[in-house]
Amino acid sequence: MKHLLSIGDLTRDDIERILDSAAALAVDEKLPTLKGKLVLNLFFESSTRTSSSFELAAKKLSADVLSLKAAGSSVDKGESLKDTVLTLAAYEPHAIVVRHPQIGAPELVARYSDAAIVNAGDGKHQHPTQALLDLFTMRDALGSLDGLHVAIVGDVLHSRVARSLVQALALVGSRTTLVGPPTLLPRGIEELGCGISTDIGSIETADVVYVLRLQRERMESAYVPSLREYAARWGITPGRIRPGQKVMHPGPINRGVEIDARVADSPDSLILAQVSSGLAVRMAVLQELLVARPALEVVA
Ligand code: NCD
Repeated sequence: MKHLLSIGDLTRDDIERILDSAAALAVDEKLPTLKGKLVLNLFFESSTRTSSSFELAAKKLSADVLSLKAAGSSVDKGESLKDTVLTLAAYEPHAIVVRHPQIGAPELVARYSDAAIVNAGDGKHQHPTQALLDLFTMRDALGSLDGLHVAIVGDVLHSRVARSLVQALALVGSRTTLVGPPTLLPRGIEELGCGISTDIGSIETADVVYVLRLQRERMESAYVPSLREYAARWGITPGRIRPGQKVMHPGPINRGVEIDARVADSPDSLILAQVSSGLAVRMAVLQELLVARPALEVVA
């Protein structure tokens, strides 16, 4: 595997290997694995969790790390993605982690550099490391992914997280139902191998309720009448979930809109576990891309 651009680049075996290697990593120690390697983090869109965990992951593996955000860089002066990448490629990075509002930006970066590219979110298209850390969190909390039922609730239409996660869950044998108002469920999404429902009551049987934020920065018009009405009809309140049902959210959360504060802070919430999983999984991904695996022995 040269790059990680989409969940579509992975097989079930790849996913299981990455999750197993994340589980085996000692995240509280500094490991020498990537000594002498340069990891470049290029973030052209806001990020708290993803950018901090990639930076920390690379540092924990002893890589040199260079993190650049669009705000404050020459992107502000009109430099294109191509020229930014060509400029930074002169430092000969081994990996480039890229987040960009445009779909396909990571592929473009791959064309202008020899580095391994990790997609940290491109528009509403893909966010593969988020899906991997979500699987890791579910496996850790619930044991097995096979046969698990996950309800993803909210703004699926604008969500790269949902697209990546549906694909990843299908690969590992879990079942997904997408739940939300019809305006926020993309037409034809069932082709990815999931069910859809416009009834909030359908989350009742799910093992995991995965909540999505209204991604208003990607909406060109009003998809919901008002935040108050959205919260009333689709918000995940204590009354809408049962004890023991796990609740997840990729963050950032909007308390009182898509998720009630009492749910976000409850013992069944895995939201902070997702953040710690993010570190281990991103360490495992960098290791997978930058460290050659021993060749399989050929049996004569
Ligand atoms: C998500 C993203 O940026 O795609 N956040 C994240 O990476 N943790 C989801 C979101 O912004 O709603």
